[in-house]
Amino acid sequence: APQVPDILSPEFAADPYPAYRAMRESAPVFWHEPTRSYVVSRYEDVEYVFKDRNGEFTTDNYDWQIEPVHGKTILQLSGREHAVRRALVAPAFRGADLQEKFLPVIERNSRELIDAFRHTGSADLVADYATRFPVNVIADMLGLDKTDHPRFHHWYTTVIAFLGNLSGDPEVAAAGDRTRVEFAEYMLPIIRERRDHLGDDLLSTLCAAEIDGVRMSDEDIKAFCSLLLAAGGETTDKAIAGIFANLLTHPEQLAAVRADRSLIPRAFAETLRHTPPVHMIMRQSATDVELGGGAIPAGSTVTCLIGSANRDPERYREPDRFDVFRDDLTTTTAFSAAADHLAFALGRHFCVGALLAKAEVEIGVNQLLDAMPDLRLADGFVPAEQGVFTRGPAALPVRFTPAG
Ligand code: HEM
Repeated sequence: APQVPDILSPEFAADPYPAYRAMRESAPVFWHEPTRSYVVSRYEDVEYVFKDRNGEFTTDNYDWQIEPVHGKTILQLSGREHAVRRALVAPAFRGADLQEKFLPVIERNSRELIDAFRHTGSADLVADYATRFPVNVIADMLGLDKTDHPRFHHWYTTVIAFLGNLSGDPEVAAAGDRTRVEFAEYMLPIIRERRDHLGDDLLSTLCAAEIDGVRMSDEDIKAFCSLLLAAGGETTDKAIAGIFANLLTHPEQLAAVRADRSLIPRAFAETLRHTPPVHMIMRQSATDVELGGGAIPAGSTVTCLIGSANRDPERYREPDRFDVFRDDLTTTTAFSAAADHLAFALGRHFCVGALLAKAEVEIGVNQLLDAMPDLRLADGFVPAEQGVFTRGPAALPVRFTPAG
C-alpha cells in the first residue's frame, strides 16, 4: 500500500489530492485498514465499479451507512425492485414536473434568501445561501408548511453530521437517532393526510405514483424524503458553494461567466469534476473481482474515490486546473454529465436529481450574479474545503455594492 495519510487525519481532510495522486500512481486498488475497504482511485476503475456491467457489485453497504438514519431507501435496492422504485420517483425530477411545477419553487426560494442580504453589501454565501437554498427547495417541493422550514433545516444538519461521523462521535450518533424518530413522527401523519388530499406537490406525486400495481408505502415515502435531505440537500449545497469558490478565486473566469451566462452549465460541470461534493461512494463486492491489477474478494467493501477519479491525468489534461473552457469536457453548453465526470456516479444509481441540481445551480448563480454586480471575496479570505466523504468550502464571505 502507498504511504497515504489516514483518512481521519487533519492532513488528509485539509488536502486529499496529494494522497489521491499517490494512490493512482502506486496502488490504484489497495486494502485500506482504517476504512476496512478496498480503495479504488483511477477514473477507469471507478467508472467500472459504477457501471457494473457484470453484476459484480451491490449497494448492501448502505444497510449500515444510511439505513440507521434514513430507513430503507432506493439506494439500498437492486434489480427489478430498484428499477420499479426508480421509475416511480424519477419523473418528478425532470420534464414537465421540473419545468412547470418546480422551477418556480426554485426561483422563489433563491430570491427570498438573496433578498435578505442584497441590501447589506456583504454575505457569507455558504451560511446565508448555499446551506439554506436546496433544503428549502426540497421542503417547498414536498409542499411542507413554510413555518416548518427551520425544523427541516435542523434535521438536515443532524442527518449530514450523522452521515459524515467517521470518528463515531456518540453525541452526533445520538442526534441522528433522535432525528430519525422526530422525522418519522413529523412526516408520517403528513403523508397519510396528503393521500386523502392530493395536490400539485412532490409528496402528492409520490403518494399517487403507481407502476403495475406497485406503489410506495408511507414508510417508503418517509425514507425517500429523509434521503432527499442528504442526497438533494448537502450535495447541491456544496456544489453551489463550490462553483462560487472556484469562480471567485479565478476572477477572469467569473467575468466570462457573468458576461455570458450560457457558460454556467460548463462552470457547473467543471466544478463537479474539479471539486465534487461527494468524494467517496462505497459498494460491496458480490463476487471475486479483478480490478486495476488487484484482486478484490467477494464480500468486501469497495471505496470509490470520485474526487481522485475526476483528477486522473489519464482522463483529463492538467487535471488540477479549474478551467471552465477546458476542451476535454464533452459539454459545450449542453448537459451531458454522465460523460463529463463521475460526480453523479454512473449506472443504475446515477443521480436521479441531476437535472434538478442543474436547474438550482443555474437559477441560483444567475440570480446571485444579477443581485451582486461587483461580487468579490472579502479582503484576505481564501476559501478552504472541509470534509472527507463530502467536501465543500466552509465559508465564503463576499462583498458587493448593496442594491439601491
Ligand atoms: C444518487 C450526487 C443532487 C437525489 C446520487 C449519487 C451521487 C449523487 C454520486 C449516486 C450514489 C450511489 O451510486 O451510491 C449528487 C450531486 C448532486 C446531487 C453531486 C448535486 C450537485 C441531487 C438532488 C436530488 C438527488 C438535487 C433530489 C432532490 C438523488 C437520489 C439518488 C441520488 C434519490 C439515488 C438514486 C438511486 O439510488 O437510483 N446523487 N446528487 N441528488 N441522488 Fe443525487
